[in-house]
Amino acid sequence: MAEHQYDNVHIEIADGIAWVALNRPEKRNAMSPALNEDMADALERLEADDDAQVVVLTGVGEAFSAGMDLKEYFRDVDDAHPSVQVRVRRVAAEWQWKHLANYSKPTIAMVNGWCFGGAFTPLVGCDLAIAAEDAVFGLSEINWGIPPGSVVSRALAETISTRDALHYIMTGETFDGRKAAEMRLVNSAVPRSELRKTVTDLADVLKAKNPVVLRAAKIGFRKSRLMPWEQAEDYLYAKLDQSQFLDHEKGRLEGMHQFLDEKTIRPGLDTYKR
Ligand code: COA
Repeated sequence: MAEHQYDNVHIEIADGIAWVALNRPEKRNAMSPALNEDMADALERLEADDDAQVVVLTGVGEAFSAGMDLKEYFRDVDDAHPSVQVRVRRVAAEWQWKHLANYSKPTIAMVNGWCFGGAFTPLVGCDLAIAAEDAVFGLSEINWGIPPGSVVSRALAETISTRDALHYIMTGETFDGRKAAEMRLVNSAVPRSELRKTVTDLADVLKAKNPVVLRAAKIGFRKSRLMPWEQAEDYLYAKLDQSQFLDHEKGRLEGMHQFLDEKTIRPGLDTYKR
């Protein structure tokens, strides 16, 4: 995988972290159909790559992503056969939220700069997000004549309040990383100089966890949110049982053993030693 090259995505894998960077800096990493094809393929490959334990999504240069490519994603396919447009939309959705919402590995969005419109979908699709304090965000659709498309508004509703979402959707005003953290669109905002280290430290915490249990925990949270309580309880217990069935390192037994018998950890404060 490390050797696999894409025209529109740059991937570097080091110490268990896959740094996946949208790579069209001259277009501020606007997401074209070709970039979307590359990302869908890259996420598939990384899922099967044992060297990638945590996936970080970011952008090359000064942008995270300037959103959908107004020329290649919109104008160039306006007059194409409807089936072409359907396919272009489907591939975008595949990686921007479908893969990410069900991804078996932990994902972190590292927002290094401009983040507009369609870029909110993969931003929210990632499990966690850290932004540079001076990164600039905006729901700019209203400024060029469309309402937010795809699932951008749905993604906003997942993360921020109705008042904040409607304010930015309706005004098209920008906000910075600090404001994004205040609204809980991202987990935190840090000075740009500390961004990569902050994300690396967070990824290291995730790497130390049992990956099977981590997957069950995050997918369980995402899917149970919209369930009634009765179904949620049954589903989450099934998830717990599933994770034990799939967990070859038997983390639950080991964690209990280290706490109850060895008294070497306190799970309230430490992860069991793997
Ligand atoms: N779609 C297509 N091309 C885009 C793009 C987008 N979303 N965002 C930037 N680009 C292109 C520009 O057309 C320009 O191309 P050119 O060099 O061939 O003329 C190049 O990227 C650089 O853009 P520029 O506007 O000169 O960069 P900047 O650093 O001054 O400003 C932005 C950066 C992100 C503020 C500005 O490019 C912008 O507003 N982009 C559109 C953002 C948007 O509305 N996205 C929502 C899409 S749903």
